[in-house]
Amino acid sequence: MRKFFTTLSLICSLFAITSICQRPLKNVFAGHFRIGAALNEKQFTGRDKRGAGIVTTNFNTISPENVLKWEAIQPVEGKFDFSKADEYVAFGEKHKMFIVGHTLVWHNQTPKWVFEGPDGKQASKELLTKRLRDHIFKVVGRYKGKIGAWDVVNEAMNDDGSYRESEWFKILGKEYLALAFRFAHEADPPADLYYNDYSLEMAEKRRGTIEMVRWLLDQKAPIGGVGSQSHHRMEWPAIEDQEKTLTDLATLGLKIAITELDIDVLPNPSDYRGAEVSVNFERRPELDPFKKSFPAERQSALAKRYQDLFRVFVKHSKLIDRVTFWCVTDGDSWLNGWPVRGRTNHPLLWDRAGKPKPAFGAVVETAAGN
Ligand code: G3I
Repeated sequence: MRKFFTTLSLICSLFAITSICQRPLKNVFAGHFRIGAALNEKQFTGRDKRGAGIVTTNFNTISPENVLKWEAIQPVEGKFDFSKADEYVAFGEKHKMFIVGHTLVWHNQTPKWVFEGPDGKQASKELLTKRLRDHIFKVVGRYKGKIGAWDVVNEAMNDDGSYRESEWFKILGKEYLALAFRFAHEADPPADLYYNDYSLEMAEKRRGTIEMVRWLLDQKAPIGGVGSQSHHRMEWPAIEDQEKTLTDLATLGLKIAITELDIDVLPNPSDYRGAEVSVNFERRPELDPFKKSFPAERQSALAKRYQDLFRVFVKHSKLIDRVTFWCVTDGDSWLNGWPVRGRTNHPLLWDRAGKPKPAFGAVVETAAGN
């Protein structure tokens, strides 16, 4: 009899663990924050049915990996192409998701014409301000009431806390930041307007960013939140720096979002920390050790790393509006091609077959109070 009950309780606890570990993330974190992912075109058009299924089952917020960037929307002055962005927004509306817009102002993926005058020389302040206003009014205005939050300005700061000397900065000075937020607010007053950047876990960059946001607030710029991209590595940042980033950003009294979470599991060619897209290193076999498979002990290490991070997110969930993964499955990740092209990375919760990895269960446990 005792054996029967022992076996029965073992079966019940296994069932309980399995059911917890397969609970949709949006249900698991319902009391804490929205949870989502960046979608590529195949997912929101339904061509990637498996990826779209993972998204609609687990997430209640979505971000666009590329289709709302300037080069995708207005590649040529005055010529707008909203076809893909419309499909992205329609997917979010159909599945009653909180829809994020990414991104209005960035130094990357912005066509050269934006910064050129009629004579081919540098555009004047007046011309660039007009272009900025026209683009933001056209894009934000189109999705008024549909897109709930915008990454208005992306990656305006350097790692040392100084302003990135982008074309935006060179022509307009730091004023471009305040202009962008004002134009976005005018176009859709209720939308949450974010500043978004990577490596805010670096103390100097975080200090400079907080200083910049305080300047925006002094200018009465309508900024509503700060997005911490969180493109992390296995060994960086330290968990205490992840926590300090949240508590330091919280001093601004604005919303905080974890906007582009992934964990690079591959060797780092030069201890580079960040997500500067233009960085690129020569591919060498020793930099691509998990091409064929991802060993069980690395799976467990990744699960622990995600669990440690989510324990901090859950602990400070009152500060966090949403946690968004950057892409859905390992095969979708930008990290397969950055900072070294042609590698096989394993940075997310679902593998290349769309199966949840041990990290999925480890993340679920942080909120299930286990
Ligand atoms: O659309 C063109 C296509 O026409 C062409 O055939 C193809 C081949 O070159 O390139 C396609 O453009 C690519 C684009 O993604 C869309 O797929 C670009 O080359 C490629 O550089 C671009 O990479 C994106 C990257 O931003 C650069 O902008 C990644 O997918 C995207 O995940 C990544 O996301 C950024 C965030 O927006 C900001 N934070 C950092 C994050 C990672 O870099």
